[in-house]
Amino acid sequence: GEATTYPEVHFSFDGIFGSFDRAAAQRGLQVYKEVCSTCHSMHLLSYRNLVDLGLTPEQAGAVAASFTVTDGPNDEGAMFERPGRLADRFRRPYPNDNAARASNNGALPPDLSVITKAREGGAEYIHALLTGFRDPPPGFVMGSGMNYNAYFPGHQIAMPNILNPDQVAYGDQTPATVDQMARDVATFLTWAAEPELEQRRAMGVKIILFLIVLAGLTYALKRKIWADLH
Ligand code: HEM
Repeated sequence: GEATTYPEVHFSFDGIFGSFDRAAAQRGLQVYKEVCSTCHSMHLLSYRNLVDLGLTPEQAGAVAASFTVTDGPNDEGAMFERPGRLADRFRRPYPNDNAARASNNGALPPDLSVITKAREGGAEYIHALLTGFRDPPPGFVMGSGMNYNAYFPGHQIAMPNILNPDQVAYGDQTPATVDQMARDVATFLTWAAEPELEQRRAMGVKIILFLIVLAGLTYALKRKIWADLH
């Protein structure tokens, strides 16, 4: 497709020495929990995984308990609802794809577990998409119930412009601008898609250091072995 440029945005995890800004990722969790989770599942995540994001088990348990999940069948063969627990997967907002489409103008809100890997542009694209809602340019024909987005391929998206200033109230007093919330949730989604990113990079750096030392030793040994032949 055509190359798209996204608004310039810096993420803590950019570059080979980058790591996750835990505070940003936790704010992003709040955005996901309070805004995105009404329509989007993240079925590869369990609430206990949030401990890796820096939450205490009690805090992760409270996030779980804030969702009502369907369990069962019980001894009578019936399904029932209960508060989420640490071992539960993130709650799916709709019972099935048909129900999801019926609520979203025929479109399916994709699962966000690995969305930063699944879409070209990754975190930058997510940030651009969430800040990219505009009035359609004059003459642009919109389908009914669709929204214009500068960065969505084809520019017509069934997802509404859901982020408004102060949509969430951050616990750490960070001003909840649309740009801030978009960056934070993009950080959270990147962590979700590749939680092992930091370990992978730390291992890469160790391997490079090892290779540099090995190259030095090899060279020194070569000089020693061949020294008498000069
Ligand atoms: C699509 C993110 C909130 C409904 C998407 C896509 C992303 C995304 C990354 C995929 C776009 C693509 O295919 O390239 C988010 C985030 C949210 C959020 C991070 C919270 C900040 C919502 C909410 C709703 C919703 C609250 C429902 C009211 C949809 C729908 C689609 C979609 C229906 C499919 C659009 C289409 O294919 O036309 N969203 N979303 N989203 N989202 Fe959201």
